[in-house]
Amino acid sequence: MQNFDLHNPTHIVFGKETVGRLNDLVPAGARVLILYGGESARRTGTLDEVRAALGDRAVVEFGGIEPNPSYETLMRAVEMIHRQGLNFLLAVGGGSVIDGTKFVAAAVHYKGDAWDIMETHGAVVEQAMPFGCVLTLPATGSEMNKGSVVTKAATKAKLVFASDHVYPRFSILDPTKTYSLPLPQVANGVVDAFTHVMEQYMTYPVDGRVQDRFAEGLLQTLIEIGPRVLAESDNYDARANLMWTATMALNGLIAAGVPEDWSTHMIGHELTALHGIDHARTLAIVLPANMQVRREAKRDKLLQYAERVWDITEGDVEQRIDAAIGHTRAFFESMGVPTRLRDYDIGAKHIDAVIQQLEAHGMTALGERGDVTLAQSRRILEASL
Ligand code: NZQ
Ligand code: ZN
Repeated sequence: MQNFDLHNPTHIVFGKETVGRLNDLVPAGARVLILYGGESARRTGTLDEVRAALGDRAVVEFGGIEPNPSYETLMRAVEMIHRQGLNFLLAVGGGSVIDGTKFVAAAVHYKGDAWDIMETHGAVVEQAMPFGCVLTLPATGSEMNKGSVVTKAATKAKLVFASDHVYPRFSILDPTKTYSLPLPQVANGVVDAFTHVMEQYMTYPVDGRVQDRFAEGLLQTLIEIGPRVLAESDNYDARANLMWTATMALNGLIAAGVPEDWSTHMIGHELTALHGIDHARTLAIVLPANMQVRREAKRDKLLQYAERVWDITEGDVEQRIDAAIGHTRAFFESMGVPTRLRDYDIGAKHIDAVIQQLEAHGMTALGERGDVTLAQSRRILEASL
C-alpha cells in the first residue's frame, strides 16, 4: 500500500427533512449568499425551505449557474459578494452549483486574475470563503471533496482545481430532494459515481485490501440499485443508497494509499467542452474503450474486477477481460446511457480537435503511470467511435 495523508473535514447531515438543520449549521448572524442553478431549486420548493431555515439572517440569492459552470457567470457572483459584504456561501444544487461555489469561494480572496486558480489547478489558492451545501443531485461527490470543475466559455477550456481550502463546511444530503430529478440525470449520477470508483480502482494492485473491497462494494451497490432508482423514482431507500454511494465514491476514502487513473475524466471533459455532452455520458463513452486499449497494463485489476464485481470465473484470461468490459458497457446502456461517440453524432473527423484541446491543457501524460500520451488518447477515442 502507498503512503497517504487523509483529512476530510466536511460535516455530513444525511436523511429526510434535514434542510431545517441549516439553522444550526450556518453561523448565526452570517450574511449569506445562496447560489443555485436554473429553475429546479425554485420549482421544487427547496429554495423556499432553505430561506425559511435561515431565519432572520441576511440572505442574497445568485441563480443561473449553468450545468458545467462557467467562469464568466461565476465571476458575477464574486462581484456581488464584494459589493454586498457577504461572508457565507450556501450552494443549493448538484455538482455544477457546488463546484461553482468552490470556485467563487476561492476567487473572492484571490488578488490576481481568478482564472489562474484553474490554470494552476488550485496551487495559488491560499484561502477561501466558508460554504455549505444542500445537495439535490447525487453524482459528483463534490459535496464532500475538495475538487471543482469550471469551464471558460470563451475558450472552451474545462479545467479542474483542487484545494484543501474548498472542502464544504457541511453538506445536507436529503434523498427525497432527488425525487424531482429527470431520469436521465439519475442515470448520469449512477454512471458518474461508477466511473469515479473505477478511476481509483482500475489501475494496478498495491495490496490495498480495504480500498479494493470498499471500491468493489460501491460498484456492486450501484449495479444493484441502478435499475431500481430508474424504475421507482420515489423509492426512498434506493435513492438514499445512491446518494451515499455517490458521496463515498469520491470523498478521498477509496483513493487513500492506491494509484489513481483519471484519464477517462480528462478526455471526457474535452468532449463536454467541445460538444456539450453531459459529463457522465462522456465517461460512458470513454471508460469501456479506455479499458480495452489499456487491457495489458490493467490486466491484474481487470481480472479481479471480473471475478469480484461481475462474478466472471469461466473462460481464459482474455475472455474474462472481454466479458468484464462488455458487462460494464451493457450496464451503462441498461441505464439508458449510450456508450459510443456515434450515438452522439461524433465521428472520426472530430478526434483531432479533442487531441488538440488535450495538448493545449497539458493532458499529455495521463493515467496511473503517466503513460496515456496524446497517441494513446487518440487510440482510446478511436476505440469509442
Ligand atoms: O440548473 P437546474 O435547474 O437546477 O437543473 C439541474 C441541471 O440542469 C438539474 N437538477 C439538479 N438537481 C435537481 C435537478 N432537476 C430536478 N430536481 C433536482 N433535484 O440537473 C441538471 C444537471 O445538474 P449538474 O449540477 O450539472 O449535474 P451534476 O451533479 O452531474 O454535475 C456535473 C458537473 O460536475 C462536474 C462535472 O464536470 C460537471 O461540470 N464534476 C465535478 C466533480 C467534483 N467536483 O469532484 C467530479 C466529477 O467527475 C465531475 O467532473
Ligand atoms: Zn465524474
